[in-house]
Amino acid sequence: TPPVTDDCWLRYEEVTDERRHEAYRTYCANAYVSVGAPELGAVRDELRRGLGEILGRTPHLWQHPPRSADGFLAVGTPEEMQVIHDSVVVDAVDALADGGFHVKATEWEGANVLVVTASTDRGLVYGTFHLLRHLSLGRPLDGLDVFEEPATADRFVDHWDNPFRRSVERGYAGLSLFDVETLPNVDERYVEYARLLASVGVDGLVVNNVNTEIPDRPSANDAMSELGGWRLLEPRYLEKLAALASVFRRYGIRLALSVNFGAPERLGGLDTADPNDEAVERWWAEKATEVYEYVPDFAGFLVKADSEGQPGPYDYDADHVDGANVLARALEPHGGRVWWRAFVYGSHSDRAVQQHETFEPLDGAFHDNVTVQVKNGPIDFQPREPVSPVFGQMPETDLALELQITGEYTGQHVHACYHVPMWKEVLEFDTDPEGHGRRVADLLTEAGSGLAGVGGPGDDPNWTGHYLAQANLYGYGRLAWDPDLDTATVTDEWVRQTFGHDPEVVETVTDVMHDSWPAVVDYSTGGLGLMHMMYNGEARLENHYDPAPGEWPGYTGATADGIGRDRNARGNGYAQQYPEALAERYDDPETCPEELLLFFHHLPWDHTLDDGRTVVQTLYDNCFAGVAAARDLRDRWDSLDGRVDEQRFRHVAERFDEQVVQAERWCRTLTAFFYEHSGVPDEHGRVPAD
Ligand code: GCU
Repeated sequence: TPPVTDDCWLRYEEVTDERRHEAYRTYCANAYVSVGAPELGAVRDELRRGLGEILGRTPHLWQHPPRSADGFLAVGTPEEMQVIHDSVVVDAVDALADGGFHVKATEWEGANVLVVTASTDRGLVYGTFHLLRHLSLGRPLDGLDVFEEPATADRFVDHWDNPFRRSVERGYAGLSLFDVETLPNVDERYVEYARLLASVGVDGLVVNNVNTEIPDRPSANDAMSELGGWRLLEPRYLEKLAALASVFRRYGIRLALSVNFGAPERLGGLDTADPNDEAVERWWAEKATEVYEYVPDFAGFLVKADSEGQPGPYDYDADHVDGANVLARALEPHGGRVWWRAFVYGSHSDRAVQQHETFEPLDGAFHDNVTVQVKNGPIDFQPREPVSPVFGQMPETDLALELQITGEYTGQHVHACYHVPMWKEVLEFDTDPEGHGRRVADLLTEAGSGLAGVGGPGDDPNWTGHYLAQANLYGYGRLAWDPDLDTATVTDEWVRQTFGHDPEVVETVTDVMHDSWPAVVDYSTGGLGLMHMMYNGEARLENHYDPAPGEWPGYTGATADGIGRDRNARGNGYAQQYPEALAERYDDPETCPEELLLFFHHLPWDHTLDDGRTVVQTLYDNCFAGVAAARDLRDRWDSLDGRVDEQRFRHVAERFDEQVVQAERWCRTLTAFFYEHSGVPDEHGRVPAD
């Protein structure tokens, strides 16, 4: 029988190689672990569980060095444990950033000792998970000597959970994990979830949806938004939050809340939420103090303001700086932070243009403890977008990169779509090729900056609704910890820990993962930079899933003479928001990267590309290539029948069958749309010409 809760990548399979088993046993069958901090409780639990599985036998946990053993594991800070103090360069350990750790195989008083140490308790949690990953991957311990530090201080997962409705906006894995009814009783799954997050280095969690109320206008988001989310700031809910915080604290994870900008009115009974009003200022300050009484290590507030119907400073003739700063002043005495989302649009005919236009002029005006949180692209988590021009252009402001872990526009966990290769493109993107070579990844390493991954996991036994979508949660955490990890490394780690070491399984799953995103891009966009051709109607399940390219002509710019949007100097000037070298590259169809061509340019259907094919023929070809790739993914997965446990094999196989059907539907719909506008038949006769 399958487990009630899937272990994802924390399966901890027993090591089979005898020599390796012997070495692991020598170092790890006995563990001397420091006590005290809540995190050390988590360390001990994880060692019991992880080493127990990997060694096939529960390790002995000691509170002093086990003199009789020929070797042991020592986990603690140099200050707490003599063996560690003697075995490491203490200054080097003390110099590690919060969360950093050092793992070293050495000898001490004649015994083989494996040291896991750090300057903070959170670092000991990460060091422990690093060690268990190392063992799960079957790597040698002799000579091990690792120093690691997180590249960024804030590595958040943002949940879009609606606790009062128990639903999850854009979640495709069941109900909300967090049950506001039963809290402060703690569900075992909270602990399991904290383990998964900490194992990949996530250190912050926003527990509720940014849409804290149903917007005052009809939209598809209504059914997904929260009902009165500001109530979470009431004492009776803060008490529940405190219980949740103590679960996550053991794993080094701090909690944050999405707050409603109108809370002073809606909850506090004031007659305004004007950020420049003294009573409002006082209300937020008192509320923050109260929150910290319940949750002393509370991380801060996330705010979606003046966006898609949520209240904001514009309602009071104030701006984003006023709005963010009033909250920042309230949190500042407690060490809290405001994450202010840049996802604001509506007043411009092309939403791509608006974020830079709105936020860039505000650079330097935000308080120190404000982070402006920017989605990777200027539109909205599309299968592929250019990198937002806000990155690199607000040097005086802390920026967070917001990525979507959940597959809202990439097949909603019915389709397999591995986001890591897409995120790598974003992280590696050079925001100023003629300047100092500042990649997005480099911008995120500054204090106050960081990453936010939009959630997804729900109460589904496999957490993400699709077993292969677990890789996106894994990859998000690993890249937030170290954006320089390459895709192949992240994938290999995930595949081996999740599916074991059978070479055929490893190779097949790895290839499936790597080919999944390009397939989705091809059949759902045509691969030349078009986007948002998903159904976007009201309150339907299929929202952002089904193909509907004609619904928003503004996105495709399809006419009888051509397709694409002129976001260039001839058009709305979006390309000119980038620094000159990038603006020039994007502005000229000859130098614009082909995969973004129609995002920046409206081109005739018969415009020829580098390889001599026309725009319309390339769109046709890419759509069909996407379908072929989807079929190929399905066949490759099917070849694993009998090599992967039945439960996971079946589940994924069924999803691939459905993905192929949907890919064919996407291809039919898009190619018909291209034909309908262009009147140009497919050279290969695959598109029915009427
Ligand atoms: C998208 C998404 C919404 C979400 C919004 C946001 O529009 O479809 O569900 O609320 O982004 O990021 O705020």
